[in-house]
Amino acid sequence: MELQVTLAQAATVLANAGIEESRLDAELLLVHALGITRAQLHAHPQGQLSPAELASYRQLIERRARREPVAHIVGHKEFYGLDLFVDSRVLIPRPETELLVERAIEISQRQSVVADVGTGSGAIAVSLAVHLPQVLVYATDASLGALEVAACNCRRHCVEGRVHLLQGHLLEPLPEPVDLIVANLPYVSQAELAQLPPEINCYEPREALNGGPDGLDHIRRLLAQAEGHLKPGGFVLLEIGAAQGPAVVALAKRHFPAARVEIARDYAGLDRVVMVSKGAGEQR
Ligand SMILES: C[S@@+](CC[C@H](N)C(=O)[O-])C[C@H]1O[C@@H](n2cnc3c(N)ncnc32)[C@H](O)[C@@H]1O
Repeated sequence: MELQVTLAQAATVLANAGIEESRLDAELLLVHALGITRAQLHAHPQGQLSPAELASYRQLIERRARREPVAHIVGHKEFYGLDLFVDSRVLIPRPETELLVERAIEISQRQSVVADVGTGSGAIAVSLAVHLPQVLVYATDASLGALEVAACNCRRHCVEGRVHLLQGHLLEPLPEPVDLIVANLPYVSQAELAQLPPEINCYEPREALNGGPDGLDHIRRLLAQAEGHLKPGGFVLLEIGAAQGPAVVALAKRHFPAARVEIARDYAGLDRVVMVSKGAGEQR
């Protein structure tokens, strides 16, 4: 069957399943099934699919119609210009988290020691290690499965020598104080969890999403632990939900009364990252 006909049919199946970007998803799955690029697909829309190719493409479309995320089906996702392996053991890295990486790169010194808490796929840790070649990163996660995925991404981008993966609760596994703590911890409140689309609710790990009654359980615990793990002059950067800015700033000021605490907005103009600068003199 002709590629463009197959594509149009698949996009209709996905649209009927309630998928907004049905045409784009149909294209991404087709190029994955055929092992070609989107440019090649657009250059040869009259190309033909063999019966075997058609059968395997239909299986992918069926999975997507059941609302499985494209990243899980194709097994990878781009983040901060890097191609990362992902599967159902980790949160699929989100574009809004790139703001956290951008800010971390801006404030890091040449030989900083960084902790990425709740590393998941390793998206933040690997990006920092690739873009800051002299930085050492401790990446922690409570989930062994997530750390296996992160290890794969460290190897994929040749940073396994500078990203140390540690299993445990928040900052507890750290072997030494660090200059910078970055964290995109679960921050979805229990009320919001029920409203999430099936792609997230049915396929992404609950322990990567659930932030407790108000979404701030993990952030609260991290801020309570942070002082003891941060060097003088250190920084904490936390990704937050758009409505959590004032509450997280208040929490940060409680634990770091002399620190400068700011909120950075993402490209949609929403509060996204809380930045705590401890200041060289601050001791408690
Ligand atoms: C929102 S995901 C973020 C993953 C990744 N950092 C990213 O930005 O794509 C949060 C991660 O925190 C981990 N996590 C949850 N509770 C934790 C805890 N108490 N200690 C360490 N990691 C935890 C989850 O397993 C999950 O991988």
